[in-house]
Amino acid sequence: MTTDVFTPWDIRGRNVRNRTVLAAMTNKQSYDNGELSDEELRWLALRAEGGFGVVTTCAANVLPTGRTWDGELGVYDERHVPGLARLAAALRDAGALSLCQIFHGGYRSPRRLTGGQPVSASDITLDIDSFEPARAMSRTEVRECIEAFAAAAERCERAGFDAVEIHGAHTFLITQFLSKELNRRDDEYGGSLENRYRFLGEIVRECRARTGDAFIVGVRLSPGVPRPHAGLSPEETLEILPWVEDDGADFVHLSLKNAAGVASAARTDRTHTVAEPEATDGALFIPKAREILSERVRLFACGGVFLLEQAEQVLANGADAVAVARAGIGHADWPKRLADRRPIDRPPYTAERLADQGLSPTFIEYMRGWSGFVAA
Ligand SMILES: Cc1cc2nc3c(=O)[nH]c(=O)nc-3n(C[C@H](O)[C@H](O)[C@H](O)COP(=O)(O)O)c2cc1C
Repeated sequence: MTTDVFTPWDIRGRNVRNRTVLAAMTNKQSYDNGELSDEELRWLALRAEGGFGVVTTCAANVLPTGRTWDGELGVYDERHVPGLARLAAALRDAGALSLCQIFHGGYRSPRRLTGGQPVSASDITLDIDSFEPARAMSRTEVRECIEAFAAAAERCERAGFDAVEIHGAHTFLITQFLSKELNRRDDEYGGSLENRYRFLGEIVRECRARTGDAFIVGVRLSPGVPRPHAGLSPEETLEILPWVEDDGADFVHLSLKNAAGVASAARTDRTHTVAEPEATDGALFIPKAREILSERVRLFACGGVFLLEQAEQVLANGADAVAVARAGIGHADWPKRLADRRPIDRPPYTAERLADQGLSPTFIEYMRGWSGFVAA
């Protein structure tokens, strides 16, 4: 039996009105001290009003050393709580489950924003544009960072959020620990896959331990993210899923290139270079992940979805929910449009259209850097 996109469901006993998720999107609209702006609130509240079942914030940093972009939301200080509370209330009032994505940028956090040398699992120098050499975190710093993730989760809960999504995807600190190439530590956080996973596992466990029974803790992973910059192979990703479950995660969110289909072409974009395109195509990877995880652990899948047929295919592949990023920028009411069978179009979108969909001039300017997104 196929699951309908509009069938209600639950995570950790919390009811969700449909199977749609707005994926985390950095949008540069908050204040430089990490406090929420009205623009960031509006952009997300409009998506909750547009019918999304789950609405995720941008990647919000858990420590000042983890700041990666200008105008990035913070969850590292008590001063962030009132803004987070306003956001959580707006999402709840519009009927969505609220989810805050928590992260640390690691080597991707520039000195310009943090005031210090970037940190990572190991000393790293990479031959990529504007790369700043990173230094290895001490064991004390690793422990402090795990504690910072847990404190951030606790703040989110206090602010009224339903959930946190621990950002273990793409090329940020957690994937730098997971990566065979980048993590060359010789302590218990480096070496074998079990050891490289330990940082993420302890974050999941601490977030779980520090929050209440109703609070939801999930993990985002991206199998096949470009190597050697960070990440796990598809096979390694499948290997850690039982550990993620045992450590207490309530959901796993797979960031894929093509969550609906098969045989996507190997391409590079801002978030992915799929090393093994067939292995990470949703039709092949999602069923494997679903088989490994118990029913308790909900599976979100994201990547390349715009149309209702694609969303249905992601669910048919075995996901419990389908997440979108770009489709949700172009259509604040993407779920309602699907339900009403109204047309969905793909980028490029005009700047006027994006403003009409609740993006501030700052966010629209940021999107001009995404090839082919904003019409000339
Ligand atoms: C503007 C923009 C910002 C993004 N920022 C984040 C982020 O903060 N955290 C994250 O995990 N993924 C981020 N992503 C990746 C998306 O969540 C998603 O995985 C990717 O865009 C593929 O989904 P799509 O094909 O529906 O766009 C971002 C994507 C876009 C377009």
